[in-house]
Amino acid sequence: MSGYRELFDASIADPQSFWAEVAKAVTWTRAPQQILDDSNPPFYRWFPDGELNTCANALDRHVENGRADQTALIYDSPVTGTQRTYTYRELLDATAKFAGGLRGLGVAKGDRVVIYMPMIPEAVIAMLACARLGAVHSVVFGGFAAHELAARIDDARPTVVVSASCGIEPTRTVEYKPMLDAALQMAEHPPRVCVIAQRERHRCELIADRDLDWDYVASAAPVDPVPVAATDPLYVLYTSGTTGKPKGIVRDNGGHAVALMWSIRNIYDISPGDVFWTASDVGWVVGHSYIVYAPLLLGATTVLYEGKPIGTPDPGAFWRVASEHGVKALFTAPTALRAIRKEDPDGEHIGRYDLSRMKYLFQAGERLDPDTYQWASQKLGIPIVDHWWQTETGWAIAANPMGLDPMPIKPGSPTVPMPGYDVRILRVDGSSCEPNEEGAICIRLPLPPGTLPTLWGDDARYEASYLREYAGYYLTGDGGYLDEDGYLFVMGRIDDVINVAGHRLSTGSIEAVLATHPAVAECAVIGVNDDIKGQVPRGLVVLQSGAKAEGLADELVALVRENIGAVACLKAVDIVPALPKTRSGKILRKTMRGIAHGKDEPVPSTIEDPGVLETLKPILHTR
Ligand code: COA
Ligand code: AMP
Repeated sequence: MSGYRELFDASIADPQSFWAEVAKAVTWTRAPQQILDDSNPPFYRWFPDGELNTCANALDRHVENGRADQTALIYDSPVTGTQRTYTYRELLDATAKFAGGLRGLGVAKGDRVVIYMPMIPEAVIAMLACARLGAVHSVVFGGFAAHELAARIDDARPTVVVSASCGIEPTRTVEYKPMLDAALQMAEHPPRVCVIAQRERHRCELIADRDLDWDYVASAAPVDPVPVAATDPLYVLYTSGTTGKPKGIVRDNGGHAVALMWSIRNIYDISPGDVFWTASDVGWVVGHSYIVYAPLLLGATTVLYEGKPIGTPDPGAFWRVASEHGVKALFTAPTALRAIRKEDPDGEHIGRYDLSRMKYLFQAGERLDPDTYQWASQKLGIPIVDHWWQTETGWAIAANPMGLDPMPIKPGSPTVPMPGYDVRILRVDGSSCEPNEEGAICIRLPLPPGTLPTLWGDDARYEASYLREYAGYYLTGDGGYLDEDGYLFVMGRIDDVINVAGHRLSTGSIEAVLATHPAVAECAVIGVNDDIKGQVPRGLVVLQSGAKAEGLADELVALVRENIGAVACLKAVDIVPALPKTRSGKILRKTMRGIAHGKDEPVPSTIEDPGVLETLKPILHTR
């Protein structure tokens, strides 16, 4: 079996045989005899009797098998002017010691550890150390502020939080400690201990009896990996749902290792020893899968980049890193390309570097618009490979399998479904769409290994969010179509999730913050198009009677930044007389979004008062 089509068909016809074969790439402490437990639908478990340790697969086995002196991690930080490399042996030593330190603080198998850190090697070491102990890490993106951090701490209930004194953005130093302290004040389930990595740029005060210095914890005696069940959780990663409460996506150990090993070879065409660079953040799923786990599980070299596509120091930053470290494949979000293109439309910076070793540029996180695709394709002269996935799936649902069977690229399409993903386009009534007919993108159950088995501590929400709408299918939340060649086109979210600079945010959580202001009676947040960031949120608020409008918009912008974090990027709030609603009280966000984009949006027949929409039109058309 060689080509994509044969492989894909085999994965759908007989998933158990397909994944049993793929699973041989993983080193198990007990090889799975059962491949899929499907006795309790819609809950499925892959490799239920298998046992392994993910950290041992990512580090120990490479050290034992001749890669001890190969570079595992390259830390490249233009914001601090630092570069550091770790061989597999060095990364293993550092991880085993930090795991020993965590164990000394009472962290055992199944316990949670929240990691709130910038893009420094300590973040990767902390993640791997948790995996080594069979503990469950939950990384919170550094751009989130105290309130969001507290919500995640309360859901995960960690034994320890690992953080750092600061993050470094191009124009400012972001002090993490005040945000951590505030989050722990708010949290109902704070940890007993915090471990803080002190950075040269800014050292913070440690609180006696609670905070410990990273260096102290990391100097403990090293510990061995703890075997865990394949179905035990490796991590929980929170993502935005349609309500204000983030969803804790659970990732298991066994299916994750199997799926990532398959994907890094077959999608990204990476072999052991190659250099792979994912320019994202360890706070996102892309960072979990393709900065940390997949390259290390394979025995490749990963790049950890603490910088931006532009401004650190110029729009040639990505090409400098790729050429300097011999990157074979770069993976980033379209928003980064748009930012680079804006500053360097002719690609002059590209010409300054030797990019002969760079074979591919992978794109995900949001739709790769054909215009950006054409620009990158022309300027770089290598395949620009779009692929589509979600925090929930952990690896690509649709991609172009460059290491297996490269397919012709169709701009605007992330190409074809990957093995195990039986993608169907469904109409509202559950029937299947014809080719080229747009509908809800769904995946027939069971999902392949590596995808979410459930939400952290909330099976009912897992079912309600993803499985209830179409029995027997997982609802992705995206809309799109399959064309006559089986290529998938993903057109955007069909729910209230928005995508700001490749970051997934819920309009519901921004609305929840706006609603806390005493002057706000009602509010709505919609995602509007933005040239660089893809989408940005826009707020519309109705005042409480007697409340003053003066200065309110600025106060609300500041409130969102303080509560959610700078990444929310809410810059525009309009005060409006009323919000358009259906007779049952549902706010017509989609209609407002259409009007804001200048579309001739049909007015739903269920509208309560068409006059409200008319009054809003001139406001929505501005900006
Ligand atoms: N810690 C603290 N603050 C952070 C942060 C972090 N890790 N990441 C971003 N922020 C802050 C930024 O400093 C900025 O603050 P400001 O409003 O004071 O300027 C704010 O959050 C918004 O940041 P961002 O969305 O990154 O916008 P930007 O204008 O600074 O940069 C891009 C624009 C396109 C260069 C940038 O968004 C980018 O590199 N995007 C790639 C996204 C990505 O990799 N996504 C992962 C999915 S694959
Ligand atoms: P996240 O969970 O943060 O990775 O965000 C997942 C969402 O981002 C998806 O549901 C899509 O809406 C969007 N997305 C990610 N990759 C792509 C892509 N290649 N094309 C279109 N949308 C994408």
